[in-house]
Amino acid sequence: MNSSIPFNKPELSGNEIQYIREAIDRGHISGDGFFSKQCAQLLERQLGVAKVLLTTSCTHALEMAALLLNICPGDEVVVPSFTFVSTVNAFVLRGAVPIFADIRPDTLNLDEAHLPRLLSERTKAIVPVHYAGVGCEMDAIMRIAQANEISVVEDNAHALFGKYRGKYLGTFGALSTLSFHETKNFTCGEGGALLINDARFVERAEIVREKGTNRSRFFRGQVDKYTWVDIGSSFLPSDLLAAFLWAQFENREGIQRRRQVVWDRYQQHLQEWAARQQVRLPFVPPVCEQPYHMFYILLPSLEQRQALIAHLKARQIQAVFHYLPLHLSAMGKRFGGKPGDCPVTEDVSDRLLRLPFYSGLKEDDQSRIIESITQFCS
Ligand SMILES: Cc1ncc(COP(=O)(O)O)c(C=O)c1O
Repeated sequence: MNSSIPFNKPELSGNEIQYIREAIDRGHISGDGFFSKQCAQLLERQLGVAKVLLTTSCTHALEMAALLLNICPGDEVVVPSFTFVSTVNAFVLRGAVPIFADIRPDTLNLDEAHLPRLLSERTKAIVPVHYAGVGCEMDAIMRIAQANEISVVEDNAHALFGKYRGKYLGTFGALSTLSFHETKNFTCGEGGALLINDARFVERAEIVREKGTNRSRFFRGQVDKYTWVDIGSSFLPSDLLAAFLWAQFENREGIQRRRQVVWDRYQQHLQEWAARQQVRLPFVPPVCEQPYHMFYILLPSLEQRQALIAHLKARQIQAVFHYLPLHLSAMGKRFGGKPGDCPVTEDVSDRLLRLPFYSGLKEDDQSRIIESITQFCS
């Protein structure tokens, strides 16, 4: 009897437990302790970002972005329909109206060609998502945003250390967000970060993240007491989580190397079968360097996708679909979404299948997955 192969498997990469112990020994397990600073500084240095603030999730980093941009009821925010709910919900929480953009059929990223007709005088932000870690067409998106004085918030949940034209994803927009959820390349279970590229947001971001107080300035000795100065919430993670994350960051090159091996093996061994079965494999434009976050395939139809899920499940292999079109969700419909608004999203959502993908995926397990897939004939 074969053992089951999950879609995702969180793993210790080395010193996670030791560093959690160390955080306790240091006597500081609330937010912004030693390990939080280590993580933030590493990201600031490597990405060249003005300021990095760890958060409890990417969802919370997006909510911070909406607060920092002063999103008000009636403001419009352009988002891809093919994304996780938080990309949109964070702005809707402030009263924004989501304007759903369709995606490009090749990278499955927000289609920049649609932007001009989706913008209006009320547009406050464009939120591109670098799906599967592959960069959106940031040159065009930034050009359109700048010409219309609209802020860009990159939802970079999938794309830490990915690049577009040699520049790190997450460093284009005024703000961008990361996720350290257990399905991401680097994790602490639940976690995230706000990357601040426009330094004008730094001071207020620290306040918003600390319950609307100037506590960060107080801890740096810049004020002699701290008080309530703005709206905000509690968006900072415990240093216990940052300790776990730091161990993962320490091994970032090894983690990325192992993920690349897994990605390349899928690509290499599924190519012939995919061509025969009219299945499409991921497309990575030459201007993009991907961080090997995900491996998906696009089946010819919904029926074939469902049949392959069942075929793999019968062999104890868990493969999963991904986003349902947000414009057709219960909330999306309340904003006027209807079938046909984003045809590429609607089509891709039916046909996409994500294969088991994690840095510790063993070679013989991956061979079993590949063999099971290539035995499947639609
Ligand atoms: C594109 C995207 N944005 C945001 C999120 C939310 O991340 P988190 O679970 O860290 O809040 C996810 C979750 O997977 C995501 O895929």
